[in-house]
Amino acid sequence: MAAKSILLIVTGGIAAYKALELVRLLKRQGIAVRAVMTKSATEFVTPLSMGVMTEDQVYGDMFDLKEEREIGHIQLSRQADLIVICPATANMLAKAAAGIADDLATTILLATDKSVLAVPAMNVRMWNHPATQRNLKQLREDGMIVMEPDEGSMACGEFGPGRLPEPPEVAARICAMLGHAFDAALTSGRAPSTIPKALEAQPDFAEEIHRRLFGKRVVVTAGPTYEAIDPIRYIANRSSGRQGFAIAQAAAEMGAEVTLIAGPVHLVTPPGVIRIDVESALEMQAEVEKALPADVAILVAAVADWRAADVPEQKIKKDGNVVPPLALTENPDILASLAQHKLRPKLLIGFAAETEKIVEHATAKLAKKRCDWIVANDVSGDVMGGDNNAFHVVTKDGVESWPETSKDAIARKLMEKVADEIA
Ligand code: C5P
Repeated sequence: MAAKSILLIVTGGIAAYKALELVRLLKRQGIAVRAVMTKSATEFVTPLSMGVMTEDQVYGDMFDLKEEREIGHIQLSRQADLIVICPATANMLAKAAAGIADDLATTILLATDKSVLAVPAMNVRMWNHPATQRNLKQLREDGMIVMEPDEGSMACGEFGPGRLPEPPEVAARICAMLGHAFDAALTSGRAPSTIPKALEAQPDFAEEIHRRLFGKRVVVTAGPTYEAIDPIRYIANRSSGRQGFAIAQAAAEMGAEVTLIAGPVHLVTPPGVIRIDVESALEMQAEVEKALPADVAILVAAVADWRAADVPEQKIKKDGNVVPPLALTENPDILASLAQHKLRPKLLIGFAAETEKIVEHATAKLAKKRCDWIVANDVSGDVMGGDNNAFHVVTKDGVESWPETSKDAIARKLMEKVADEIA
């Protein structure tokens, strides 16, 4: 396995000192770190300390000719597998959300094609401010992965969400995004400064032990489907695909081999996931079947129930006062057909978007579609396209109701339950 590397952008907050600890932990895991510091970050931590930790030059000034000639901002991100902003201040998140590029760090963020993980740390009022929350929503829509801050007492004497998550937690998340086995034993005690010889020789050994879905194949569908009316027009729905993408990401982070079959959405592919883009329900069904055999299938997509019965090759013309009829025909039910398939996955999970009698309808759907679990959610609010979700997981053993949380967090919780089930 080739050594992984990250580009760490350190911004100016009191938590910047924890970035030093993060670098130490990552290097113990065998991950190379190159650091970029904003000007205000250097008020909290010296570039000298950071350079000692990364054992490399620390980058800071875009207009340093030597740096630009030898290794420009494009090169810096190209050489890394992942970009991590830790700590990410409210100011940095605001600039990134607006696409401002006025120093090396922000220019890298605007120019990169790599996945970006942001680890926010700020005062609770700044975190809760509508401007910050708006920026976070925008960044997540743009594909940035943003960790939730910890809750607790802060350097400023206040209490609430905004604390930087502990460095071992951040290091574990980075390893997961890199598809690199995280060895928790290396986070404590006086571990050697380089990865131990035994692990170096057997990277897969560590992987099987620490990643609960290692070796499992998981198929996920996500997003809406588009059903053509003619070559220009289509029938669609409001699904954003975010919940399905979060589930695919959580499964990949836990070591699964994930195939994500996505309807038309504007989302970045999670690291390590095989993505197949489709438009219609028929295309989605064909790709799901090609992805078999699988241990688990999680069908999150909002598949259109109907498609146009006939799709003309030419655009339907507006013709005087005559409104053209739109005859519909039923789409195949991918979930129900998978339940009867000779390669039926061991664990087959459907989703049910409901606006009323949620558990009652989900329970009926479980029986009708013959899947193993139905995850029901209430879509009467702004769940579709929103940041949060609450689940009712309906199985033959009963119903578990999980409170509302972020789509990423609830996806991880679901995948932990999947791992418990198929372990
Ligand atoms: O019947 P309903 O559309 O509410 O069922 C939702 C579940 O069934 C979801 O898991 C969805 O992905 C799946 N489904 C499907 N094929 C369809 C319609 C829904 O796989 N044609």
